[in-house]
Amino acid sequence: MTEDNLYAGREQTLVKHLILQRYLKRFAMIIGQVWSSITYVDCFSGPWQSRSAEFADTSFGIAVQELRRARDELAERSGKAPQLRCYFLERDADAYERLHGYARTFTDVEIATRNAPLEDSVADIERFVTGVTPKPFSFVFVDPTGWSGFALDRIRPLLLLKPGEVLINFMTEHIRRFIDSPDEQTRRSFEELFGSADFRDQLAEIPVTERRDAVVFEYARTVAAVGRFDYPSIAVVLHPQKNRSHFHLVYLTRSSKGLEVFKDAEKQSMADMEQARAKAQQRKREEKGGRYLFSAEEMHDPVHFQELRDRYLGMARKALESRLRNQIRVPYEQAWAIALFYPMVWEGDVKQWIREWTEQGSVSLEGLGPRQRVPQRDQHHCLVWPSGR
Ligand SMILES: C[S@@+](CC[C@H](N)C(=O)[O-])C[C@H]1O[C@@H](n2cnc3c(N)ncnc32)[C@H](O)[C@@H]1O
Repeated sequence: MTEDNLYAGREQTLVKHLILQRYLKRFAMIIGQVWSSITYVDCFSGPWQSRSAEFADTSFGIAVQELRRARDELAERSGKAPQLRCYFLERDADAYERLHGYARTFTDVEIATRNAPLEDSVADIERFVTGVTPKPFSFVFVDPTGWSGFALDRIRPLLLLKPGEVLINFMTEHIRRFIDSPDEQTRRSFEELFGSADFRDQLAEIPVTERRDAVVFEYARTVAAVGRFDYPSIAVVLHPQKNRSHFHLVYLTRSSKGLEVFKDAEKQSMADMEQARAKAQQRKREEKGGRYLFSAEEMHDPVHFQELRDRYLGMARKALESRLRNQIRVPYEQAWAIALFYPMVWEGDVKQWIREWTEQGSVSLEGLGPRQRVPQRDQHHCLVWPSGR
């Protein structure tokens, strides 16, 4: 089956899987050179709406494939390969049967499966992850269908796993619609998601039109603070046929290299997302009886994507300017991380602002060599905001 057939009608899942696949591919190659063991945990495994007999369109199938591929490549290159361990959790009994059947087919990866809700499984996951020596590097994927089942207090031990990274699918559109619900039980469920009611104060000031972003930013900052992740970032996944965000992927790492690799995966996948949305929108037009001379790509209007990117660029630039104003001297890697927290903002954008600021004289650069004009990370390069501006 081609990618088009596997994901037609659920292109948002394609984008999620592309980001995951591209990220894990490089993650496993990098981590596998240093750590002797990698543990991948899927807290909401599925399969869910999968069409592939080999589960090539599931997060667990993609993870196993990428981890094994990296391990084999590392073994071939250096003769040293990491041990691979996976923990797949699924609450639904039928889905679990299929998941378990898949897991049983591997003898070269240690795969534990469990048919239970995440709420009752965190201690078991922790035991699995920490139960080997030396410590493995863990990657935890949280991919729910709504906003329940991963209350902050429940997943706290998973956020604290070290060394480790976390990727959370935040169902933004769904959450935004219900977050102000007066229903007491719904209100409580959001407080559990955020770990307290404080998020309401943060959101109270934000105009309704900016709520969608504000909710996910607040969530990302909250989970990053709990797990002491220095480099949180967010990728946006748009609805295939409508001009609005569908969900966001919140990525949490303690390593600048991790952030760099995640942003590369995000950037590549944004281009694929626009292509997939073009096809999905063309399909919708054709289903309504339209006949077109132009291809899906030619018919696709990129304005929504561009407006959204401009909005995030504006937010990132404002956040960086505000840090410069308050802190005066900001190491380049810190400036980079502040900006790359935002979706659709990449290193080239940060360098472009710095070029503009230095040309205007509003920022000066410190620590660059005589022939260097562009700051780099980890070379003690600093941005300096003239005091009094
Ligand atoms: C969005 S789907 C997962 C898709 C999968 N990660 C992928 O990308 O291919 C969510 C899955 O989590 C399961 N699930 C829902 N609530 C759960 C819970 N509290 N604990 C564990 N699994 C749950 C559902 O049955 C469903 O299979």
